[in-house]
Amino acid sequence: MTSAEVRPIHLDTDPGLDDLLAIALALALPELRVDALTTVAGNAGIDRVTENAQRFAALAGLALPIGRGAAEPLALSRCDAAHFHGEDGRRGVSIPALDRRPVETAASVLRARLAAHGVRCVVALGPLTNLATLAREQPTLLEGIEIVWMGGALQGGNVTPVAEFNAYADPQALSTLLDSAAALRVIPLEVTETVALREADVGEQPFGASELGRTLEAVLRALMEAERPTAGEARASLHDPCAVLAATRRDLFRYEEKVIRIQVDESSDRGRLSELPAGSGRTVHYAVEARADEIKRIFLDGLRRLGEAA
Ligand code: RIB
Ligand code: CA
Repeated sequence: MTSAEVRPIHLDTDPGLDDLLAIALALALPELRVDALTTVAGNAGIDRVTENAQRFAALAGLALPIGRGAAEPLALSRCDAAHFHGEDGRRGVSIPALDRRPVETAASVLRARLAAHGVRCVVALGPLTNLATLAREQPTLLEGIEIVWMGGALQGGNVTPVAEFNAYADPQALSTLLDSAAALRVIPLEVTETVALREADVGEQPFGASELGRTLEAVLRALMEAERPTAGEARASLHDPCAVLAATRRDLFRYEEKVIRIQVDESSDRGRLSELPAGSGRTVHYAVEARADEIKRIFLDGLRRLGEAA
């Protein structure tokens, strides 16, 4: 693969179990190069998600900038997903505290990477607070940038009956970006929840015997257990890994051009997406279908390669 075919991406993330799997997948795909990571409060508080990003980066042998991002949403009350991802953001999965890299601020990392014009794609795996803050402070920096975001839902939520978590956690952030210079590619809950691994999909030691491979397996199995109460079986929806794949494999998803808006008030509709008539505003690329079996195959193969090479 020539360097021209490799797409440099920036990951903005709230690790989070599926975030950790998504970071691993981004590292495993030869057509992507992770340029930097920034963290945002979401699944857990900013200290926890940043600690998890640092620990995982060290375990994976990553030497890249890590920027610590927003601790609070732009306007509404902060929420988290501790009931699902645990207070530590990783349901007690052990990740060694190796020599972690010092963290910068998300703003400085994002500005440096986007201004350098090397990175034209940000894969956003949590609430959009960091990117919305940048859009407000330096609007032109998002010109020509594609944001591939796991978030939102038009057919029922997972944090309320009508809102998906990343949208619910900071509705103003999405609203800001809908009016920004960035192009949005939305991978919503109704699509990502169709891409789920079950026990039968995951064999023994699926990612090899290395510490990284065994840690990735522990993260996946913790995710499967987290979903068991609602799914009625051990099951892992690959929400964030879908967004990573959407940054490189357009063929794995079917999109429609939609004009969307989000409810930004502190009400029972907080974070609810609605679709407006065509022609009533800027459109986003909105995923409506995924090739689930192919995505699961790529995911399992990629993490197996990563774990076996460690
Ligand atoms: O609704 C799923 C999304 O919320 C995922 O990104 C998960 O990590 C949580 O952040
Ligand atoms: Ca996430």
